[in-house]
Amino acid sequence: PALPALLRGMPKAELHIHIEGSLEPELIFALAGRNGVTLPYASVDALRAAYAFTDLQSFLDIYYAGASVLLEEADFFDMAMAYFRRAAADRVVHAELFFDPQTHTERGVPVETVIRGLARARATAQQELGVSSELILCFLRHLSEDAAFQTLEQALPYREHFIGVGLDSSERGHPPEKFARVFARCRELGLRLVAHAGEEGPPAYVWSALDVLKVERIDHGVRSLEDPALVARLAAERMPLTVCPLSNVKLRVFDTMAQHSLAAMLDAGLCATVNSDDPAYFGGYLNQNFIETFEALPALGAAQAYRLARNSFEASFASAAQKQRWC
Ligand code: ADE
Ligand code: ZN
Repeated sequence: PALPALLRGMPKAELHIHIEGSLEPELIFALAGRNGVTLPYASVDALRAAYAFTDLQSFLDIYYAGASVLLEEADFFDMAMAYFRRAAADRVVHAELFFDPQTHTERGVPVETVIRGLARARATAQQELGVSSELILCFLRHLSEDAAFQTLEQALPYREHFIGVGLDSSERGHPPEKFARVFARCRELGLRLVAHAGEEGPPAYVWSALDVLKVERIDHGVRSLEDPALVARLAAERMPLTVCPLSNVKLRVFDTMAQHSLAAMLDAGLCATVNSDDPAYFGGYLNQNFIETFEALPALGAAQAYRLARNSFEASFASAAQKQRWC
């Protein structure tokens, strides 16, 4: 088939999606109305007009404001179901969703409310859409390691509902080392480990995510290409990198899509995958990421499309038996 049809139609897994980043402006306003929350924006259009980001922090400020409308279990369910429907339309057959409990517990929403709503959406997505999924609990790195330990404690009664933990929010000035103890504890508990590293932060943060946190995937990791020794290691270990092209352009990690390093990463033998990060904020869901990246980078063709789909299954936390059925 023609390349866009191939990209749209091929089965794929999404491994880097913050579920709070799938909250569309229309749903933000609907939930604000339902919950009696006052927003600092007059309309859906006024909110969307504020989505002009200059860096990661300028995005995070608006992303946390958007999440302030989430109060009840049904809100988390509705948000996740809207994502699962969009994902299924993009031929996503498996999704691993990040969620940020601290964004909600800081506003008095119990972690139980968050997890129960998301867990119910997972079950419904499996039944009604045939999309399998997992949840990954993320610690906010701009908060303290003590706060991360408290969050872990609050979430452990719901341990069966999440497969692993991650690390997100403001990267610069908050290196992986800050969370060495809490990640060590999560490792003892048998949780799978991932972390955002090398998005805005330097290659040194990717090294310490690997060596200190002992993560099994690097989220973003695009700045790894500045360090040839790191690239060699990532390739040798087939360490997955969950790359988010539209996010990288919107947050000015790359000025234009034509400058994106995805093709170079595949060329270097890295286990790169394509993901949407925060699709409601960055201009599109998974297939939009594939289409725009392949349009802008002439080195990407059908072989790279299949490679990226296979990488997404290989890098997932699904069982070996399930991976065999996909690949
Ligand atoms: N939280 C949501 N999206 C994020 C990103 N791209 N980087 C860090 N933290 C995030
Ligand atoms: Zn992210």
